[in-house]
Amino acid sequence: MDDSSVAERLVDAVESLSTDHKRGTRPIHTIGVGVDGYFQPSEAARSYCKAEHFQRPCVRASVRFSNGSGSPVQHDGWSDVRGMATRFHLSDGSATDLIAMTLPEFFVPTVDQFFEFARTAKPKPVRRESPWQKILDMLQLKIPRRNPPPGQKESPDAGAKSFADRHRFAQLAVVQTDTIGAPVSYARAAYHAVHTFIVTAPDGVRRPVRFSWQPVAGVCNTKATATAVDNYLRQELEERLGRWPARFMLMMTIGEAGDALDDPTQPWPAKRVRVVMGTLTLKNVAADQVAAAERISFNPCRLVPGIEVSEDPILRARRNVYEVSCQRRNGIPCPFNGS
Ligand code: HEM
Repeated sequence: MDDSSVAERLVDAVESLSTDHKRGTRPIHTIGVGVDGYFQPSEAARSYCKAEHFQRPCVRASVRFSNGSGSPVQHDGWSDVRGMATRFHLSDGSATDLIAMTLPEFFVPTVDQFFEFARTAKPKPVRRESPWQKILDMLQLKIPRRNPPPGQKESPDAGAKSFADRHRFAQLAVVQTDTIGAPVSYARAAYHAVHTFIVTAPDGVRRPVRFSWQPVAGVCNTKATATAVDNYLRQELEERLGRWPARFMLMMTIGEAGDALDDPTQPWPAKRVRVVMGTLTLKNVAADQVAAAERISFNPCRLVPGIEVSEDPILRARRNVYEVSCQRRNGIPCPFNGS
């Protein structure tokens, strides 16, 4: 099967994860908000990566924050993965993207396993546990199941858990998804680009790295007991940026011999060297949300000289997946640099 039909099938699989997916919208990370800002690299970044946005003093950046769900209905208070897609605008009018999410690891290491995961994790009706059942669970030393937030009628969680029971590699991501909660602000979550990339320094040294964004304001979730509110993240961001810019530090972790370079389900040891690559400053929620969030198309493989994809098969497959998804929803494609 050729790459483009694999991509079509992958987008079909992602669409099948939401029962209320609306044509013309993203099949996942559907609700989002576009923000304007700029990126300033650190001194250290200049010696680690020759890519333009790490060499110039400052580049313009566009960011889209999103809820992970493919539902077209806004559910900010639900426990969910969040996304942060960043576009760095370069001097010749081209661009490079960095797509990150609040999970540090992915569910599967290969495309075939993603198809199996998507089949197993199809949303199923969620059952509320009665108080008596919770007491019974505790008496039997079982962890009582958390009730779904008000309004949630179905969820992929049961299927994802049964997939993780059969596949050890999925356990980290599934457990983290189960407990992830909701951030008090898009600007108070840490986001991870998950895959390994290869960066080349001005002296020609090539290093395997993983990128993540750390919020300068610190990570903070809503209380687990808080009643889920459907729509607060965009307004919170508008108010926050109206008072003061929000900042993120771009961290780059350097891999060492023996680290998993082609498997996004595997964490690297915590003691790896981390370099602060720069600061992203977010100024305002974009005035034109159709152009800045709804129709824009990010792509994890839109890279510039100085950064390359690793051998990770999921990362490589995503190049065509995001193109196909953009075409299906009539988004605005952003041409690949020099291709
Ligand atoms: C086989 C694996 C994956 C598939 C099939 C997939 C599929 C998709 C699709 C179809 C979209 C909508 C794109 C669009 O219409 O513009 C999307 C968006 C997104 N994905 Fe993935 N994805 C995968 C893995 C990942 C991973 C590993 C991450 C972690 C960084 C990720 C983070 C995101 C984010 C943050 C968005 C929203 C981007 C935006 O705001 O435009 N995805 N994904």
